[in-house]
Amino acid sequence: MTGVGGTNRVAGVEFLDANLAEVIDSGLTRVEELLHREVHSQYDFVTETSLHLMDAGGKRFRPLFTLLAGQVGPRGDSPDVVTAAAVVELVHLATLYHDDVMDSATMRRGAPSANARWDNSVAILTGDYLFAHASRLVADLGPDAVRIIADTFAELVTGQMRETRGPRAGDDPVKHYLAVVAEKTGSLIATAARYGAMFAGCPPEQVAALRRFGEIIGTAFQVSDDVIDIASPEEDSGKTPGTDLREGVATLPMLYAAQQAGPAAERLRELLAAPLTEDALVDEALELLRSSDGLDRARDTLREQATQARDELAVLPDCPARDALASLTVFVVDRTG
Ligand code: IPE
Ligand code: IPE
Ligand code: MG
Ligand code: MG
Repeated sequence: MTGVGGTNRVAGVEFLDANLAEVIDSGLTRVEELLHREVHSQYDFVTETSLHLMDAGGKRFRPLFTLLAGQVGPRGDSPDVVTAAAVVELVHLATLYHDDVMDSATMRRGAPSANARWDNSVAILTGDYLFAHASRLVADLGPDAVRIIADTFAELVTGQMRETRGPRAGDDPVKHYLAVVAEKTGSLIATAARYGAMFAGCPPEQVAALRRFGEIIGTAFQVSDDVIDIASPEEDSGKTPGTDLREGVATLPMLYAAQQAGPAAERLRELLAAPLTEDALVDEALELLRSSDGLDRARDTLREQATQARDELAVLPDCPARDALASLTVFVVDRTG
């Protein structure tokens, strides 16, 4: 935790309440200890490949969410909240190992991705190993938690599958995109918040509101990630810009930019029709996207999502955790620059 000009920054997010920042910071330390204990294998190589990305960095946005939602309830400091936070981070991390294989990514968290450092088999098996440990941990939380994470994982995978297949003829591509991001990213962030609220003893209507809040913010988080893939340099994101273009994944800023009239949009539509393998074509597409209105329109969508998410917080008691959740809605918009 670093205090800068009277504010407290934890996991990249600023907190106005110093006491809450302290509680979240120590919760994240407990999560970190648990994650490291959990992935330790008798076979050193598996420990090494698992720790590779775990220790490379990462915002720990999902565990942060679980801990913050927990602080809305009466038992936010319970060990179950910490376990739940570790479960969501493990599931997230596992999906990153698999996602980088699917996306042929070479960088993750500022480090070489596991598929690039070793190979696809190592990356896939490490992802599986992390899923196995998430399952082991979630068993301590009881059958409801197991069912919830199973449903969440099925939804996440459905989103990845829907993205891989692309929209069907006649589908609205923007609708398709929004369904994909709600499934592949909104689902797990919704569960992160829901778990925190559940295990801290929040009443059902608050659990439901925090779940919906997580789903909307999670969706917005993915939209902001897709803006960053076009707008931000590698030093900021820890990933290679233009990865979505190389993979032929049409994201919201691209879909909006392609809707414009004129020769630039015409050329962009041509470039977006297939995955781009040549660096020069990726650079050309990035240039066209950066000078189109696609990024700004995607930021408008983000702002709408942030407002919608904030509305969900109305049923929560007035407390520092609710204020911090509200500030996350600003963070998701602001991180796109
Ligand atoms: C990356 O998630 C994948 C998305 C769903 C956008 P994060 O941006 O939370 O990645 P880390 O955990 O900080 O590396
Ligand atoms: C990440 O999707 C979603 C999941 C891992 C479930 P992306 O492919 O868009 O994320 P990044 O940009 O590689 O982090
Ligand atoms: Mg990816
Ligand atoms: Mg992907």
